[in-house]
Amino acid sequence: MTSTSAEAVLTAAPRLEPACKSTRSRKTLEPARTLDDLINGLHVIFADDVVDVEEVTHFMESYCAKKNEWETLATFDTHRYTRNLIDSGNGKFNLILLCWGEGHGSSIHDHSDSHCFMKMMDGSLTETKYSWPSEKKKRPMNVTDVTAYEKDHVAYINDSIGLHRVENRSHTNKAVSLHLYSPPFNMCQSFDERSGHKVKCNVTFHTKYGEKVCYKNKCK
Ligand code: SIN
Repeated sequence: MTSTSAEAVLTAAPRLEPACKSTRSRKTLEPARTLDDLINGLHVIFADDVVDVEEVTHFMESYCAKKNEWETLATFDTHRYTRNLIDSGNGKFNLILLCWGEGHGSSIHDHSDSHCFMKMMDGSLTETKYSWPSEKKKRPMNVTDVTAYEKDHVAYINDSIGLHRVENRSHTNKAVSLHLYSPPFNMCQSFDERSGHKVKCNVTFHTKYGEKVCYKNKCK
């Protein structure tokens, strides 16, 4: 794969079409018609210890996101995107609604050896993938892919694929995505694009099950 700068690929980012498909999944059989179906089906799929990436992707794609089912769980902040925990999957996975204001974006980060599935619920998000930087030399990180995702698309990444940054590049529209991490994790690493330098980052929540979360007596 050739490496190139983020600027060079900005204009070329392919936009993937909505991907809500009524596919049947091996374990759940029926497509998820509602958010509750989706959560219940994920519990069935993750009852096994082996994660079948294709099966989880197809099942998450089978759900056509409906705003009235998730909007009461969505909270926005003026300064940065929020993480809203909606299900902790019997300890096997975390299901988190991420709410992105206009122009909000994540750092470049890894996923602590977990699987990361991202389903678009509303708006559009752009994912920039990077290869792991050299531990020895400080140099700009290599971009390997830039893709924009629209409603109902499901994207997948893990540490063997690389690192990524997720951004809402719209200046007029918010975006909402549903992330599944398995196993759940609360620490990751973020990377500086210019040097590859990494620091530890905490995965914190704005809300859990609809309730605001306070850290050290400070509510986020
Ligand atoms: C985040 O959780 O901070 C970013 C989104 C992701 O990589 O899943």
